[in-house]
Amino acid sequence: MMDEKKSQHGEWSSRFAFILAATGSAVGLGNIWKFPYITGENGGGAFVLVYLLCVLLIGIPLMMAETLLGRRSKENPIHTMEILTKEAGADKNWHYLGWLGVAAGFLILSYYSVIAGWASAYVVKAFFGSFSGANPSEIKAIFDNFVASPMQLIFWHSLFMLATMLIVVRGIEKGFEKSVRFLLPWLFALMILMVGYAMTTDGYFKGLNFLFRPDFSKLTADSILVAMGQAFFSLSLGMGSIMVYGAYLPKDVSITKASMIIAGADTIIALLAGIIIFPIVFSNGLHPNSGPGLVFETLPIAFGNMFGGWLVGILFFVALVFAALSSSIALIEPAVAWLIENKGFTREKACLWSGLVAWALGFATIFSFNIWANVKLFERNLFELIDYLTANLMLPIGGFCIAIFAGWIMHQEHSKQELDCPDNLSYKIWQFLVRYIAPAAVFLVFLNVVGVL
Ligand code: TRP
Repeated sequence: MMDEKKSQHGEWSSRFAFILAATGSAVGLGNIWKFPYITGENGGGAFVLVYLLCVLLIGIPLMMAETLLGRRSKENPIHTMEILTKEAGADKNWHYLGWLGVAAGFLILSYYSVIAGWASAYVVKAFFGSFSGANPSEIKAIFDNFVASPMQLIFWHSLFMLATMLIVVRGIEKGFEKSVRFLLPWLFALMILMVGYAMTTDGYFKGLNFLFRPDFSKLTADSILVAMGQAFFSLSLGMGSIMVYGAYLPKDVSITKASMIIAGADTIIALLAGIIIFPIVFSNGLHPNSGPGLVFETLPIAFGNMFGGWLVGILFFVALVFAALSSSIALIEPAVAWLIENKGFTREKACLWSGLVAWALGFATIFSFNIWANVKLFERNLFELIDYLTANLMLPIGGFCIAIFAGWIMHQEHSKQELDCPDNLSYKIWQFLVRYIAPAAVFLVFLNVVGVL
């Protein structure tokens, strides 16, 4: 029965389309904006190593788990959990997992859109040549002045959210696929070009050293949690985004291969961002731990100095905005799909309401950079709090539950059938990772942070 069901939102036109869209959701601000600045804040190499381990041992198996849950039910995450718990004869409370995901999606989108708004504003700044000939302190001043103005941030945030809503309104086939198809190769090519620039700076090897030579004395319990949270965040795991995409996935696609390709591409883009940014940091006497502004304070230096930098700067920020768009549509889609399927909303109305709620929540982040900069709870401003709550708590908790569900609750024949592993050994490896390694890792990292371990 289940096998013949198709999602009411249509299906991907091919395996390639699914990989593109899921990679589009994974690659975004998380790779280019967040990965470098948290790597900078957490001391470099050792943090990167922990991050890579998390991607390999937790991220990839969980991505497979999430995709298979979505494909099995062909529904939105909340409904998916309802259907699959029934199928497995499990406790009804599992469907709260879907709720957790929708809530995390809103919260993440609320600040994601603000930062994507920064990237959009930087397209215009690049176009008007604001960076050419500017020295590092002038570039920093451009950023500081920009984020000090709530009105400007509100404007760009609103514009970005509107764009997200317009794409989502058009539904998956038309809207999603087209926008990602051109973007990824383009982004990749630009980044390779910029690595070329980074190689010419005198901070190149210092940058690489910072990024790749682990100094374990810099690793704290909290930075391990941040590395794990970033693996979830960057791969779009733990909240049902990939589950929704899985729901649109045709039967004949290998979930195992697709997950590895997606995670590989995502990791490469993040590392490239680091390889570009840290040499610029060290060759200009900047500090790696300057926080969320890091990308916006470093890359423009390159654009102001490198050959063809004006054009590269414009193209790069445009690519970044598109990368952010292909992620923001994944963040909002679980809520939209749920409103349509369970609440009988039209697609238009569902997009409108989800977009408005996330937009309004975004003001908390906007004001964290200016008028509410000193409003702190648990030593964090509102933006940092939302980020911590979502990436470091909600996503790992969601991931933990997904691992338990796919590994222990769902019938083995079902997961085996969906994964369609080439041999029994690969299935066993996957099962071992989702049953033991992923849940235990999340659990131990949590214990470590609260100081029990
Ligand atoms: N992965 C995206 C990025 O790195 C952000 C994102 C999209 C996301 N969908 C998600 C994060 C779902 C968590 C969950 O930019």
